[in-house]
Amino acid sequence: MNKNLLKVVSLSLVASMGFLMAGCADTTAETAAEGEFTTVTPGVLTMATNAYFPPYEFYEGSDITGIDAEIAQAVADKLGLELVIEDVEFDSIIAGVQSGKYDIGCAGMTVTEERLQSVNFTTPYATGIQSIIVAEGSDITDLDTLIESGCMVGVQSGTTGDLYMTDEVGEERMDRYNKGNDAILALLNGVVGAVVIDNQPAQSFVDANPGLVILETPYTVEDYAMAVNKDNEALLEAINQALAELTADGTIDSIIETYIPSEEV
Ligand code: ARG
Repeated sequence: MNKNLLKVVSLSLVASMGFLMAGCADTTAETAAEGEFTTVTPGVLTMATNAYFPPYEFYEGSDITGIDAEIAQAVADKLGLELVIEDVEFDSIIAGVQSGKYDIGCAGMTVTEERLQSVNFTTPYATGIQSIIVAEGSDITDLDTLIESGCMVGVQSGTTGDLYMTDEVGEERMDRYNKGNDAILALLNGVVGAVVIDNQPAQSFVDANPGLVILETPYTVEDYAMAVNKDNEALLEAINQALAELTADGTIDSIIETYIPSEEV
């Protein structure tokens, strides 16, 4: 087991404890916090995402939709803000939130110790598990055979899958792509022997591409949360308050259920 896994798992525990504590405090207040938060553009909640991560974010025509887009919309409604979504490279999201370009990063983004050095995270609203995708009939059947195979590994650049696999197989075997879809194409074309990506996008990609399978090897369990600029505590609190209300009234569950029917979340 690698040490990043332990780090992420223990972080998840801390994050869920924070969530429970926030839940307790929130029972006294029914409405979204009316703190003095500011946003990059007044009246607008600017969200950065990378929209090739179904069912969390993906294009429907020219619109970006999915679990994150809908949860962020519900949060923006609570805060009386208009939601504007910007589709950017995944590994530029944290820096953009940190530099004050975007109000939030909302991208199926895992809470990690390293990212917490640069941004704050809201209370988690979903979980993800890193999955390994291979071609049907591949000799790679689990993490150990993947490591032994000597194959190239496809990941989305800057993701936790990238981080873990670099640790496991070393830099020279990593093939990094800006979009999850492109990593999948590389797998279909035999350029990489496996793709490591979060379980729900993995499922969507496998459903859309016959001949690929997800290995039954639960790898890590991660919390997804929104990244917020460290100097904008008031916005963080207002979003957490909105998320608590949207959790309490079942909105978040029903959004997730729309995209991931009868999944435990
Ligand atoms: N959960 C992973 C991470 O935070 C992958 C997220 C990728 N998200 C996206 N919208 N492309 O690193």
